[in-house]
Amino acid sequence: MKTGGKSVLITGCSSGIGRACAIFLAEKGFTVFATVRNETGAADLKKEGIENLVPMHPFDLTIPGHLPRLAEAVTGEIEKRGQEGLYAIVNNAGGGFISPIELMDLDKFRNELETRLTGPIALLQAFLPQVRKARGRIVWIATPGLIPLPFDSSIHACDFAVNNLARTLNIELIPWKIPVIMVRCGAMKTEGVGRTYRDLETGFKAWPVEKSGLYSKKLEEEVKKWKILDEKRSDPSEAAKMVFRALASEKPKSRYRTGYMSGAAAFLELLPQTFADFILKRRAG
Ligand SMILES: NC(=O)c1ccc[n+]([C@@H]2O[C@H](COP(=O)([O-])OP(=O)(O)OC[C@H]3O[C@@H](n4cnc5c(N)ncnc54)[C@H](OP(=O)(O)O)[C@@H]3O)[C@@H](O)[C@H]2O)c1
Repeated sequence: MKTGGKSVLITGCSSGIGRACAIFLAEKGFTVFATVRNETGAADLKKEGIENLVPMHPFDLTIPGHLPRLAEAVTGEIEKRGQEGLYAIVNNAGGGFISPIELMDLDKFRNELETRLTGPIALLQAFLPQVRKARGRIVWIATPGLIPLPFDSSIHACDFAVNNLARTLNIELIPWKIPVIMVRCGAMKTEGVGRTYRDLETGFKAWPVEKSGLYSKKLEEEVKKWKILDEKRSDPSEAAKMVFRALASEKPKSRYRTGYMSGAAAFLELLPQTFADFILKRRAG
């Protein structure tokens, strides 16, 4: 497929999977509109010196006021380059944090829901006319397994919802032949991993002792398991290659998966929920 003359909008490109995708797709010839939240993120991408990698900032999915400016800037760039609409939106931005649901910081959770769900819907509403023009596609970065992992629900509750949104859109957008694709990543070695441990440390200190004490042993056990898994995390460039495949394939699949443990997680998803829950309860001990 010819990538020149086609543009892709990717959210959350200051680090991790988003940054890897932005650089890889731009190197492959796409014009990449890479959103970041601040000037530093934009300057950092500029340093790559890739002409068709265009940082867009500030863009925070939780701030509705940022969207009209982004829409105007991206549309302007597309017109300036004489392109036929926007070929793809890649919904990548997200954070997430570790916490028992009982102790969850609700502001942080609301922020995550905005970032992973409401924000991407607003983005879609703003850019779908452009995607229609380009006969393009929508990509969602998510995790492969719809599984209840303890203390991880700020991430996986969003993944459940993303799964629903992507599959529903894949049906709603049939009249315009716009594929909606999930690139489901296993454990990837990104900046997000270190951030979640730091946040956990801060969060733990802020929880009332009588409550944090209820969970400390189980949390410690989980963190130990995650740290073993951390050694084996895949490079985010693997995710970038898969996103490229999803964008370049003439007949894209609705799901791709990549990265450490993505196969095992996808397998768990194939099991009846009651059986998967049984396995996960046994794992939790
Ligand atoms: N790492 C994994 O193992 C893994 C596995 C499966 C799926 N995923 C998914 O992949 C995506 C990227 O994760 P990552 O591991 O690459 O994390 P990361 O390195 O922390 O990157 C997250 C990106 O999202 C941006 N972001 C966060 N909140 C935002 C908001 N409200 N508005 C706009 N941008 C925002 C961050 O910007 P700032 O730098 O400004 O914070 C950053 O650019 C997430 O959706 C995550 O759930 C990750």
